[in-house]
Amino acid sequence: MAGSLRKPTLTSCSSSSAETDDEGVRGTCEDASICKRFAVSVGYWDDPYIQHLVRLSKERKAPEINRGYFARVHGISELIKAFLRKTECHCQIINLGAGMDTTFWTLKDQGLLPRKYFEVDFPTIVTRKLHCIKYKPVLSKPIVDLHSEGTLQIDGHMLDSKRYAIIGADLRDIPELEEKLKKCNMNTQLPTLLITECVLVYMSPEQSANLIKWAASSFGTAMFVNYEQVNMGDRFGHIMIENLRRRQCDLAGVETCKSLESQKERLLSNGWEVASAVDMMELYSQLPRAEVSRIEGLEFLDEMELLEQLMQHYCLCWATKGGRELGLKEITYSSVQGSG
Ligand SMILES: C[S@@+](CC[C@H](N)C(=O)[O-])C[C@H]1O[C@@H](n2cnc3c(N)ncnc32)[C@H](O)[C@@H]1O
Repeated sequence: MAGSLRKPTLTSCSSSSAETDDEGVRGTCEDASICKRFAVSVGYWDDPYIQHLVRLSKERKAPEINRGYFARVHGISELIKAFLRKTECHCQIINLGAGMDTTFWTLKDQGLLPRKYFEVDFPTIVTRKLHCIKYKPVLSKPIVDLHSEGTLQIDGHMLDSKRYAIIGADLRDIPELEEKLKKCNMNTQLPTLLITECVLVYMSPEQSANLIKWAASSFGTAMFVNYEQVNMGDRFGHIMIENLRRRQCDLAGVETCKSLESQKERLLSNGWEVASAVDMMELYSQLPRAEVSRIEGLEFLDEMELLEQLMQHYCLCWATKGGRELGLKEITYSSVQGSG
């Protein structure tokens, strides 16, 4: 969530050269992970690992931001679990622009690990995460325990083990990305789930299309899950773009974030067979009632309109190709609700 009309929350960026454009994008990792850590500290959802990767913000995050993160994490996690159920975990997951994501550890606790879980982010982000993994046994032990044979491959920008790999690479450089994933034994024959959680919007439409096309052409059976901005052509969208631009953070891919249709169209015109998209207000309204009552009891939200405005500007999209025998196409929004 980049922010709301009440208070934009994207991390500040301070310079405008090509190098620092990326610095601004890398800064969004900090923003997302700090917001998630804060929401976890208030009790929105359980994540015993995030505290080992991210500091707790002294500043409170607004309730609509916390609820937004809750819906985002819930929606993505339900799609991941639906894919794991369909493939009976005989699959791989590639989280592109993973930041400080903790899904690998939580899936392990739930007995739902895929054959291998890959994360990719800029080398500097990976170095930071690797540092935490190296020095926090709660993070390193599951990786080591699952790595039965040989020594772990680890350097400053990469760790490769039997069930988990983290790779430093630029997602705009497809040959480099592919080479590094292959080096870590990415298996193009396995059903594969690719995730981009608030990542594509920081690339030009051409660059994100290339990434999506590469993903579709690399795997016979696959699903792509994307979370990011939508309905950005209105006043709220313009304010968000302006707020970020003032901080030298360009949403280079905002053009594709016009509507749910433009989001689906990008997937369908780049090799994916079936695509769906929902805005986050719609998703929020379909969340299990008991969960919504629980989280709405955590903090008072004076203006429901703030939540609605924010949530109508983010969406969850997913697309599949192949996997007819597994029923991947059946992973729809209603199955997300059903599994909640
Ligand atoms: C808003 S953060 C989201 C992080 C994580 N997906 C989450 O939702 O918690 C965007 C992430 O994408 C990464 N990213 C953006 N563009 C990238 C690129 N071209 N190559 C590698 N990583 C990129 C950033 O470094 C950052 O970690």
